[in-house]
Amino acid sequence: MSKKLTQIAIYGKGGIGKSTTTSNISAALSVAGYKVMQFGCDPKSDSTNTLRGGTYIPTVLDTLREKNVVKPEEVIFEGFNGIYCVEAGGPSPGVGCAGRGIITAVQLFKQKKVFEEYDLDYVIYDVLGDVVCGGFAVPIREGIAEHVFTVSSADFMAIFAANNLFKGIHKYSNNGGALLGGVIANSINEPYAKDIIDDFVDVTKTQVVEYVPRSVTVTQSELQGKTTVEAAPDSKQAQVYKQLAEKIANHTESKVPEPLGIEELRNWAARWGETLLSLQSGEVRSAAEKI
Ligand SMILES: Nc1ncnc2c1ncn2[C@@H]1O[C@H](COP(=O)(O)OP(=O)(O)OP(=O)(O)O)[C@@H](O)[C@H]1O
Ligand SMILES: [Mg+2]
Repeated sequence: MSKKLTQIAIYGKGGIGKSTTTSNISAALSVAGYKVMQFGCDPKSDSTNTLRGGTYIPTVLDTLREKNVVKPEEVIFEGFNGIYCVEAGGPSPGVGCAGRGIITAVQLFKQKKVFEEYDLDYVIYDVLGDVVCGGFAVPIREGIAEHVFTVSSADFMAIFAANNLFKGIHKYSNNGGALLGGVIANSINEPYAKDIIDDFVDVTKTQVVEYVPRSVTVTQSELQGKTTVEAAPDSKQAQVYKQLAEKIANHTESKVPEPLGIEELRNWAARWGETLLSLQSGEVRSAAEKI
């Protein structure tokens, strides 16, 4: 009997830490004994680099441009601990929809029954999610992913992107779209950053899955072309990623988030602006600091 495949999509603003977090989750799940495929859905095609010693792999779109018929083994490459790495790729800069790589790659994999043939436990999509449009919405819209997670820091633009993603999930949820597992709070070192994220998940009726600190261990590992789970398996940061991966593996209950309207979001941000000013002047103390 073939095992149950769980497909997970990880979204977030550009540069927020999606690929770093996704690759560490893949590495941790793989070390825990699961068979994992990481599916990079970014036209930059660098999602799987730290799973493969810092090297790039040919993308599905590039390979299709060279040949008419593509075999799965021409676009699936093994990385750390046998993780299957795929990069959907993108169009030439300035030509066509950047999400076309995802649409094409997903179609190809469905047609060739790749997910069944490779006997996978998890497929993890790493998706640029500033705007949930076109190809970038595929893992959510077509019910491909079962659970969606978003990586966000406490910065307003990251939260803005997360809120946009919530709007997309909300919209597609009426037609069998994927639901939200929660927020992976990245680069959370200051107590006020935790407070901001906690408040955001509260008002949007979702949850934080894990708080991931900003750590030099991540930088060091990346410079070696590796995930933290591979390069520094006994580090505190690797423990955080392993704990996050375990929570994702055991996650069952995803929900429809309640995104804020644009005015509501601006007012929410303005209130936080005032709170941070009072924190700075010592008028109030952060809730996270009191714990
Ligand atoms: N918790 C962390 N601690 C230290 N550095 C981090 C952390 N998370 C991410 N980074 C660093 O931030 C940079 C951007 O991360 P990453 O490439 O994962 O972001 P991304 O969201 O995938 O970006 P893009 O949208 O460009 O694909 C990388 O250099 C990465 O090492
Ligand atoms: Mg990336």
